[in-house]
Amino acid sequence: MEPDVLISGKNLTRVYGKNKLAVKVLDVKSLEIRRGEFIALTGPSGCGKTTLLNLLGVLDRPSGGDIIFEGKKISERDEAFLCRFRRQRIGFIFQAYHLIPTISALKNVMVPAFPLGSGRYKRRAMELIRQVGLAGKEGRRPDDLSGGEQQRVAIARALLLDPDLILADEPTGNLDSATGAEIMDLLKTLNQKGKTVLVATHDQRVAEGCGRNIRMMDGQII
Ligand SMILES: Nc1ncnc2c1ncn2[C@@H]1O[C@H](COP(=O)(O)OP(=O)(O)OP(=O)(O)O)[C@@H](O)[C@H]1O
Ligand SMILES: [Mg+2]
Repeated sequence: MEPDVLISGKNLTRVYGKNKLAVKVLDVKSLEIRRGEFIALTGPSGCGKTTLLNLLGVLDRPSGGDIIFEGKKISERDEAFLCRFRRQRIGFIFQAYHLIPTISALKNVMVPAFPLGSGRYKRRAMELIRQVGLAGKEGRRPDDLSGGEQQRVAIARALLLDPDLILADEPTGNLDSATGAEIMDLLKTLNQKGKTVLVATHDQRVAEGCGRNIRMMDGQII
């Protein structure tokens, strides 16, 4: 393995259902993501992009094979380890933002720090809100923000604990093309500052802005 590989998957499979109803929806022999890459994961609906992202972010466990992070197998670790790992090492961004509707933008950004005592993260959260272009809007609840602004809050939240890897699943899928392009510019800026970013997308225009394109079909990388 090259020393700058951040995360890799080996012989990864994911099977849904059991016995006669079992369907293998993912079968990836080898995938390596190097530190600092900006990668688009593309392919038709149902090809397995979300399934792969969820395995890399250890939101889900593979049916077979290994996830290796900084040279260490993590797919077999216990749930307490994976929970901490996800919170500290991975930043997730989703199509539908997944913000908590009843609390402010600032509090949403601080959510990853709740188990650590979020108070001391307030200054960092404010700085991130400024960086994503939402200065002055930190007191608003998600309903009082546009879709693009909500996605910016979600990006700031993903950055709070300074993760090594950003996993974004259709981050522009709910946005008009101009707003989607702004969100991609923001992700590109994060990448230029050193973050490793993997973006699953249907949108060829989104994929063209990335440094490498991994294409999937029927659960495999092609
Ligand atoms: N919980 C589940 N149970 C059974 N099958 C599932 C489950 N989740 C996903 N699948 C199936 O796994 C395959 C891959 O789904 P996945 O969501 O990874 O695709 P995708 O590439 O992200 O699609 P899209 O572009 O529509 O988001 C699909 O055939 C889907 O129907
Ligand atoms: Mg998907």
